[in-house]
Amino acid sequence: MTFIDDLNALAQESESTLAAVSDLDALAEWKIRYIGKSGALTRFSRGLGALPAEQRPAAGREVNQVREGLETAFAAAETRLKAAAQAAELAADQIDVTMPGRTPAVGYVHLTNQVLRQVEQIFGEMGFQVTESPEVELDAYNFSLLNFADDHPARDMQDTFYVETPAGMPSVLLRTHTSPGQIRVMRERAPEPLRILLPGKVYRNEQVTVRSEMMFHQFEFLAVGHHITMGDLKGTLAYFAERMYGPGTRVRLRPSFFPFTEPSAEMDVSCFLCKGAGCRICKQAGWLEIGGCGMVHPTVLRNGGYDPNLFSGFAGGFGPERIAMLKYGINDIRLFYGGDARFVEMFG
Ligand code: DAH
Repeated sequence: MTFIDDLNALAQESESTLAAVSDLDALAEWKIRYIGKSGALTRFSRGLGALPAEQRPAAGREVNQVREGLETAFAAAETRLKAAAQAAELAADQIDVTMPGRTPAVGYVHLTNQVLRQVEQIFGEMGFQVTESPEVELDAYNFSLLNFADDHPARDMQDTFYVETPAGMPSVLLRTHTSPGQIRVMRERAPEPLRILLPGKVYRNEQVTVRSEMMFHQFEFLAVGHHITMGDLKGTLAYFAERMYGPGTRVRLRPSFFPFTEPSAEMDVSCFLCKGAGCRICKQAGWLEIGGCGMVHPTVLRNGGYDPNLFSGFAGGFGPERIAMLKYGINDIRLFYGGDARFVEMFG
């Protein structure tokens, strides 16, 4: 009975090749070869017709049995190989959570911005609104409207970066201070009372040294309203100094001159290091000079759209770099914008 012998031989061969199958691709090939539509077993089903009629039922049962056996074996092999494939994938993906991590490179807030944020916080507590005005500014806003005389030395090309403009156009420059923002804000809001803080970059055509940079920052504070006095200015400065340099910090005003304030003053704070006794930071003076301030000049109020008979105001402009240099004992302003990341990280 060669049909049954051949069938058994096929059953044996297919079982042993199945045992050797080690991955899903090989298993798919095996399926096509033995139990697929045009596989070896199908040829036996078709061959049944050629058998003598009395042999057919027994042979047919035999073929079916072999097919069932092989399909069961196939299903078992498929389950096993899929599980193995998944386990291999998981093993390849394994993460060792005990390995030291890679530290992501995060940036730092620049020291200047740290100071400015603190300044915004402090003035915010006193009701000052933060706003900004252009760095590229009209000459008129930077100088004339702030009551600078036409021959004031600050207008000199030596001190100011002018922007080339076509003939007949108004003169344009990189602002040399944040004070022109005063005129802009007043013109926008007059005759409302104001409490404004204007932080930003300023530019000066200067030899770069340990003490001076071509670009640095200022913040301008401006209050305009009815019955604002020098006492309000001093109270504002006293609050600022205590919040910035610590409780007990004292403030003093020394007479000075600015075209846009009358009277004008330089504001000093008692040295935070020696508390006024005299030390290296304050060069034995006991006081540290912070910046200029004063009562807004009547002409400036008028240029801003306020009637100086009804309104008064105070203003000031300080440098955050200077504040930071004094606070941290930094003796070279060029470190701020020299691009050395270690400086930024050091204060990060
Ligand atoms: N604009 C001045 C400067 O750059 C600083 C200043 C002084 C601003 C007195 C003011 C002020 O608002 O009242 O040196």
